[in-house]
Amino acid sequence: MRIVFIGPPGAGKGTQCRRLSAHYTIPHLSTGEMLRKASRDTPVGRVVGAYIDNGQLAPDPLVMRIVRKRLQRNDCRRGSLFDGFPRTVIQSELLDEHLSAMGQKVDIVLDLQVKEAELVERLLARAEVEGRDDDTAETIQRRLHVFRTQTAPVLDYYAGRGLIEQIDGQRTADEVFDEICDRIDTRLRNQEPG
Ligand code: AP5
Ligand code: MG
Repeated sequence: MRIVFIGPPGAGKGTQCRRLSAHYTIPHLSTGEMLRKASRDTPVGRVVGAYIDNGQLAPDPLVMRIVRKRLQRNDCRRGSLFDGFPRTVIQSELLDEHLSAMGQKVDIVLDLQVKEAELVERLLARAEVEGRDDDTAETIQRRLHVFRTQTAPVLDYYAGRGLIEQIDGQRTADEVFDEICDRIDTRLRNQEPG
């Protein structure tokens, strides 16, 4: 099972993916986490870090290189849970190409919806606790703009294929989790065998 999780900054992608990954025993692939790690550990790190800190997307080829490498690991044979990826239509196309070469496909796209005022509140609260460099009032606005202009079109890309499940993210994390599991389980039951 390959699940794409799309939602604006602060919608709860990471929170839900950690639980879903344990519940369905499939690996959690967060490109945000991978890029933050790359920004600390690799020679191109400073360049990557600058994109993240400015709230802009890292270049598609760089993101795809990291994702393709991660998908080669054995644990991804069972499936994968993509957190915050793909984030551009080009990434969606390249992911489809990559999966189809391996005889795989995206099975479900979760569209986690939360109003902007709530997103800003959540991220500013998280800034107090975790101190992520991109959780400043100005950068949060830039990330929201990037989501509206570059990532929302990814939903249109998948819409025609009937893959999207819209999830109301403005409830407790437990309620959101239960709803997502219901949607996934229903799709799994209705999937053709094999
Ligand atoms: P990324 O790390 O993906 O960040 P993001 O999309 O901005 O989202 P967040 O991680 O901030 O929020 P989330 O939805 O995971 O919410 P969370 O569960 O933490 O990307 C960071 C950067 O990396 C990008 O800006 C870009 O530069 C780069 N990047 C990443 N992927 C890329 C790609 N594919 N291509 C190019 N560049 C890429 O929750 C947020 C807070 O809310 C937490 O404090 C949480 O406890 C709380 N919370 C969660 N659920 C609830 C709830 N139901 N009710 C109340 N509070 C809640
Ligand atoms: Mg996250």
